[in-house]
Amino acid sequence: MNIKNKVVIVTGASSGIGLATATLLAKRGVKVALVARSIDKLRNISKELPESFPICADMTKEDEIKMMVRKTKNHFGRIDVLINSAGQGYDAPVEKINIETYRTMFNLDVVGPLVAMQSVIAIMKKQKEGVIVNISSGTALMALPNMSPYSSVKAALASISLTAREELKKDNIHVSVVYPYMTLTDFEKNTIKDTEENQAEPEEGKGPLRPPDTPGYLAQKILEGIENNDAEIFAHDWMKKMIR
Ligand SMILES: NC(=O)c1ccc[n+]([C@@H]2O[C@H](COP(=O)([O-])OP(=O)(O)OC[C@H]3O[C@@H](n4cnc5c(N)ncnc54)[C@H](OP(=O)(O)O)[C@@H]3O)[C@@H](O)[C@H]2O)c1
Repeated sequence: MNIKNKVVIVTGASSGIGLATATLLAKRGVKVALVARSIDKLRNISKELPESFPICADMTKEDEIKMMVRKTKNHFGRIDVLINSAGQGYDAPVEKINIETYRTMFNLDVVGPLVAMQSVIAIMKKQKEGVIVNISSGTALMALPNMSPYSSVKAALASISLTAREELKKDNIHVSVVYPYMTLTDFEKNTIKDTEENQAEPEEGKGPLRPPDTPGYLAQKILEGIENNDAEIFAHDWMKKMIR
């Protein structure tokens, strides 16, 4: 899809990958609906991004997600692209996963994007075109100790995305999944940890071999993935070899 002049919803637009993507898209002439809970942050960001529209919504709340989609449609008149970037991590060994915390993560990282997808699909079908991009994680492709709560929800999101892609081809709606590598955002700070101190950190000398990406780098990958209609958008080509 040529993104110029299109209407794009970006969830998680107050920080990190969502913010970088919204900023890049606005520079390319896109009308962006900026979605997150921190409305003051979004209002300030919106002042810098021409034609953007800040909307406060908690992506764990079905009624707020539906309201957010309605507000975007009412404001811009259409919705061409949905980018589900809002999310949070949760690290714990399988034995110690707190079930309530896991349910909350599942709600945010899987159910929220799913509700947003369902809400825009109806609109996109009427428009006879659309793009949906879900931000999963490279961890969805791996089996890393302590990361099963996060990798499992991101694997679920990837599975929903790729299945929806097959189902919606006939409606000219293209669904993509993004696998970021470690990216320099507030993600690590916001990750809930039920691990022993430092347990989730790599052992000395066995740390990641590659430096983390900037959110701007990933935003560029997302834009290219939308323009090329890629099913899977990998932060790096070497990640393709990690698919289980
Ligand atoms: N950074 C990485 O290394 C990395 C790697 C792989 C995948 N990812 C994925 O990339 C996506 C973006 O993460 P990030 O790195 O940009 O992290 P971040 O800087 O922590 O940003 C997270 C965003 O999600 C929003 N958010 C969190 N809970 C929300 C809720 N209940 N309702 C609405 N919005 C909510 C936050 O906004 P508010 O707090 O204002 O609501 C914020 O805008 C996530 O899905 C994450 O899982 C990140």
